[in-house]
Amino acid sequence: MQHLVELQHVTKVFAGVEQSLRGTKLEAKGPALWLRNLSRLARLTADTAPPVHALADISLSVAPDTIFGLVGRNGTGKTTLLKILAGLIRPTSGTGQVAGIPLTDPAEIRRRVSYVSTTGWMGLEWPLTAEENVRFFAALCGMPARLARCRTEEALRDVDLWGERHKYPAQLSNGMRQRVILARALLFRTPLVLLDEPTVGLDPVTTQTILALIKVRLRERGQTIIVTDHQSAEMAQLADHLAVLRDGRIALQGTPAELLALLHGVTVIEVQTAGMDLPAGPPPDLLLSSRWEERPGALGIRVWHILARADAHTVAAVLDWIAQPAQPLAGQVVLLAESPPQLADVLAWLEQPPTASSPKAEVRR
Ligand SMILES: Nc1ncnc2c1ncn2[C@@H]1O[C@H](COP(=O)(O)OP(=O)(O)OP(=O)(O)O)[C@@H](O)[C@H]1O
Ligand SMILES: [Mg+2]
Repeated sequence: MQHLVELQHVTKVFAGVEQSLRGTKLEAKGPALWLRNLSRLARLTADTAPPVHALADISLSVAPDTIFGLVGRNGTGKTTLLKILAGLIRPTSGTGQVAGIPLTDPAEIRRRVSYVSTTGWMGLEWPLTAEENVRFFAALCGMPARLARCRTEEALRDVDLWGERHKYPAQLSNGMRQRVILARALLFRTPLVLLDEPTVGLDPVTTQTILALIKVRLRERGQTIIVTDHQSAEMAQLADHLAVLRDGRIALQGTPAELLALLHGVTVIEVQTAGMDLPAGPPPDLLLSSRWEERPGALGIRVWHILARADAHTVAAVLDWIAQPAQPLAGQVVLLAESPPQLADVLAWLEQPPTASSPKAEVRR
């Protein structure tokens, strides 16, 4: 099967930022002045910031008709990878193709890809209404006027904004503006749609609307989707295939079920205690990881999130460990719950440094 996207050993290094523009066209203009003042203010002595290795050795394939999810913490390279796939920036090295076009021909790639970034500033025109903004974008991209009118209505209805179409960006909420930006990507029937955090900042109901839109409508149209998100629960719901980025590299890949299977035999225990001291003794052997946070308030509620090997004694052993106060009878357990691991647990697990008692040898990365 011909893949819609194929990358081999792609890297991206961003060159250091020039802090002196002397001798460039910009010397006498605003940015040069701004940088010069900034340098003076911060007493910067170096001429350039160091280069950033944003992506390293990325190899991946995306089959047609899939929803491919990219997850990872801030700064792990998700947006950089999407921009390369959108033909907006070039990789530093590596090869590949997007919708049959080699990475060396970004202008042609741009014709076959819709790219939406809801996190960056994608320039809504403030003097235009929501509807005019979408139609203006269609016109900019060369869409004939009649088709642009139909598609604009369809796209605004899809993102549930038809009722607000006469409002100006200043009259819309952040989430609504974001949906206008999303509507612009729905105008086209490109084989590949790239969505950078499409639901960030949206309320839960709107998030579900957008997820359904991606899952059903874009799919019906035969479009392949690559989507990034921080919300791993949403990605588990949405994506057929996931790649987890870490420090610019792919740390893990697979279906959500395959990634969850990495924590096979592991159970998640939540314990809430009130007014209790921290455990004094060592954790039980079957405990794999634990973290806790204090809830604000007078009750002194501490919430534990624990991963442990599942067996008949797990819950009792964890409870014994947590409820062994330095002062007898101090505090109490107010909640105890056990559940299977979620994708977020797998991702949190990846971030942990390996320890002697770590089961990572059993967990294939
Ligand atoms: N134009 C640029 N010039 C220099 N460095 C950059 C540039 N764009 C991104 N970077 C750096 O590349 C790395 C990856 O950034 P990127 O925006 O791809 O991360 P991300 O995974 O999308 O993060 P987030 O979740 O915060 O959106 C970061 O270290 C970032 O500082
Ligand atoms: Mg990003």
